[in-house]
Amino acid sequence: MAHGEDRDQTGDRATAHRSPSWSTVPTSRAPDQPAAGADDGVTPVAVAADELVEIAARILVTAGSPEPAARAVAVSLVESDLVGHDSHGVRRLVPYVDAVRGGMIDPSADPVVRRRHRATAVVDGRRGFGQLAARLAVTEARDLAREYGVGVVTIGNCNHIGRLGEYVQTLAETDAVGLAFCNIDPTVAPYGGRERRLGTNPLAWSAPRADGRPPVVVDFATSAIAEGKLALSLARQERVGTGLLVDAEGRDSTDPADFYTGGALLPFGQHKGYGLSVMIEIVGGLLSGAGVSSLPGYDNTNGTVLIAIDIETFVPVSGFRSRSEEFCRLLGDTAPAVDTDPGPDGVLVPGEKEARTRAARISEGITLAPSTWRELAELPGGPELPGVPVPVPHPRNRADGAAPSPEENPDDTGGPRAPA
Ligand SMILES: NC(=O)c1ccc[n+]([C@@H]2O[C@H](COP(=O)([O-])OP(=O)(O)OC[C@H]3O[C@@H](n4cnc5c(N)ncnc54)[C@H](O)[C@@H]3O)[C@@H](O)[C@H]2O)c1
Repeated sequence: MAHGEDRDQTGDRATAHRSPSWSTVPTSRAPDQPAAGADDGVTPVAVAADELVEIAARILVTAGSPEPAARAVAVSLVESDLVGHDSHGVRRLVPYVDAVRGGMIDPSADPVVRRRHRATAVVDGRRGFGQLAARLAVTEARDLAREYGVGVVTIGNCNHIGRLGEYVQTLAETDAVGLAFCNIDPTVAPYGGRERRLGTNPLAWSAPRADGRPPVVVDFATSAIAEGKLALSLARQERVGTGLLVDAEGRDSTDPADFYTGGALLPFGQHKGYGLSVMIEIVGGLLSGAGVSSLPGYDNTNGTVLIAIDIETFVPVSGFRSRSEEFCRLLGDTAPAVDTDPGPDGVLVPGEKEARTRAARISEGITLAPSTWRELAELPGGPELPGVPVPVPHPRNRADGAAPSPEENPDDTGGPRAPA
């Protein structure tokens, strides 16, 4: 049985109390305990991204990874922190190291291209870090798309690939359209149901813009709320909106604790998000060989499909870029709605929020939650003094040493995840 997988008496997966795996961040706190905060004895500091890469790489090397592989995984994780998806940043090192210890991740494994046929390839992650397999798949898909116009690559046997936006963005930066999706262990109920049958099954899609603008990157889970954001609400003892989860009896709930006591997340967009998630389970899970996450035989990895479309094969890239840029500017110039406040930035194009966060964090450094520092310090190879963030502070570190408010850093909840 795969690490992190339990079965109940009926043979179904017992999803209410799953063991921690790379897909959920374990916590020593019960779901009803408050999130760690300033009283951790940890003073939050903003750390430069390259310093955080060094820390993450050291932890991974100590866990058994060769230096280049450790650095590649570290860069992927820190990129997630940089763009504001801290839920997929360096805090994932805790479950990753745990999965190495449990034998689920082989830290020294190199992914390989197992098979090539026409415009397709099959990448075998060899149970190593998923980021390495996904990076290899990006290179492979791009090469195939140059030769055939399109490249379709599946990734199996690969553990957690992290933030999908990274991979499609790389493709868009080389004049391709990128599409990626994958399944993951079940936490989401089908539309109209109450049991966990689907993963949060993310989808990412990218296209280049012009004038040096970062690409359009659509990248999200197909659940109505990310589990990490639910944890934040739980830690703040806040209710969430309606339509996001059901409790164990299938009643609509606004109490995040109900998820952690046997409830389920709901798909976004009712039957529409549900439909997308179903297809990601079937196509991602089955083409990759990972399996459907709620059926016996699922191998507890991100069953992934990655597609690259070479733009020049179809139309001149310059024309595609300039029209896509024109359209994105038109979107950004849209007059704001009356009842839906788009926020201080006005109407955004997908990918812009991440690009702005990245620019700010490159300049100001990355401020992690105290609980994340504490957890990193406890890992072998982590920051030396437990509970104290020792890395060199970013020169533009806050003078007051204050922790970011949840509004400033909403993804880094420091809060509880699925219970062990
Ligand atoms: N590997 C896995 O198993 C796995 C599973 C689930 C999620 N993830 C990753 O988690 C990350 C977070 O997912 P999420 O569902 O919380 O994402 P999210 O809800 O934060 O949505 C992010 C997307 O929405 C866009 N966006 C955000 N605000 C916008 C606005 N005001 N206007 C226009 N566009 C806007 C962003 O640019 C981005 O494309 C993703 O990177 C995803 O790939 C990975």
